[in-house]
Amino acid sequence: MKITRWILGITGGIAAYKTPELVRLLVKQGSEVKVVMTHGAKSFVTPMTLQAVSRNPVYSDLLDEDFEAAMGHIELARWAQGILIAPLSANRLAALAHGMADDLLTTLCLATQAPIWAAPAMNQQMWHHPATQSNIRILQERGIQLLGPEYGEQACQEIGLGRMCEPEAIVANLFNAEKTILEGKHVLISAGPTQEVIDPVRYLSNRSSGKMGFALAKAAQRMGAKVTLIAGPVSLPTPAHVKRLDVTSAQQMYDVVMKEAQHCDIFISAAAVCDFRLLETNNHKIKKSDQHQNLTLNLVANPDILATVAKLPKRPFCVGFAAETENFEHYARQKLLEKELDLVALNDVSNNEIGFDANDNALTVFSHHQKHEITKNSKENVAIKLLEIIGEYYHAKNKTKST
Ligand code: PMT
Repeated sequence: MKITRWILGITGGIAAYKTPELVRLLVKQGSEVKVVMTHGAKSFVTPMTLQAVSRNPVYSDLLDEDFEAAMGHIELARWAQGILIAPLSANRLAALAHGMADDLLTTLCLATQAPIWAAPAMNQQMWHHPATQSNIRILQERGIQLLGPEYGEQACQEIGLGRMCEPEAIVANLFNAEKTILEGKHVLISAGPTQEVIDPVRYLSNRSSGKMGFALAKAAQRMGAKVTLIAGPVSLPTPAHVKRLDVTSAQQMYDVVMKEAQHCDIFISAAAVCDFRLLETNNHKIKKSDQHQNLTLNLVANPDILATVAKLPKRPFCVGFAAETENFEHYARQKLLEKELDLVALNDVSNNEIGFDANDNALTVFSHHQKHEITKNSKENVAIKLLEIIGEYYHAKNKTKST
């Protein structure tokens, strides 16, 4: 369903000056827009301007007799087919996360059944603060879709993540989300680490949190795909409408992936699979005293899951990740060729701000003839961009096959 009735919620932040343009672009898409402003927002942009561009009255007060007599907040919440909050300040973000209803906008968000999108904008330190990050996770778990923020120079002259996405990008994202480029496709995604048992209390593993793979699963489902997510041991909630199968070791992941890969169109291997496991596991805890100062573990290679899937006679479109710390392009291209992949996404895991366990990522995606940069952004937004690239290549490959 194309959303044509939007509430645009504007909160108090300098990026509010961009909202008349946002209204104009939404209207250009054939939408009717009703603007709801917080009191803080009015310090940055006038209700009169927004009334003129939206051609509708602008709402602000929860306890306004005229507004309640004319439409009322519950009616407005029912009227909306989509709510977009841009910019979303740190303060209103916290209020939303904690279910507050202390102004008209937060009340509408509680009273509506419409999907909600939000474009946060704030100082980069405020964005990175653990309180904000924890509020963000709450909102995401509740299905609120975040657009940005973007990296760059801020009004406060700091540089970092926190800029509101440009109005064109917000509108493109809103209407792209409905484009469902993966409609009808079955996408199999592996995520998280594997654990290889040493003894009953110890294992070998790595720092993967599963965030990247889970973000891909969530975004692929929103783009219309049927999604199966094979998850290593992680503590993340399952994205809505995604089939999740939990595994622990590389061998278990191999077994489940090989079974599921028979029925999928696209396989994205985001898991950080342990390359080795113990040749023999110990049934009892290895005692320090037994081993003196040195302990030698006898390791054997795990099967390469992705390379095996890519060699299946009826193989899905195969996308790998290359987690590297040096010789980035060389190793990424080597994986593309040796594992016989369609695409490989290079992840610089020497940078703590992206890659393992970080909330953000940045990727370079290699096909056999081209490369595409996905600049630093939240893993949710990086996932959307990566899936758009995958969708394009997948459709191009299948078009070539059928002609
Ligand atoms: O989980 P996060 O904290 O969000 O971090 C994301 C990430 C850094 C884990 C992820 O983006 C990433 O880079 N995943 C791949 C990590 C990895 O194992 O890279 P690799 O270069 O060792 O492996 C190359 C490819 O082969 C990967 O697609 C991997 O899934 C696959 N592989 C590797 C070994 C193996 N035995 N079987 C495999 O299928």
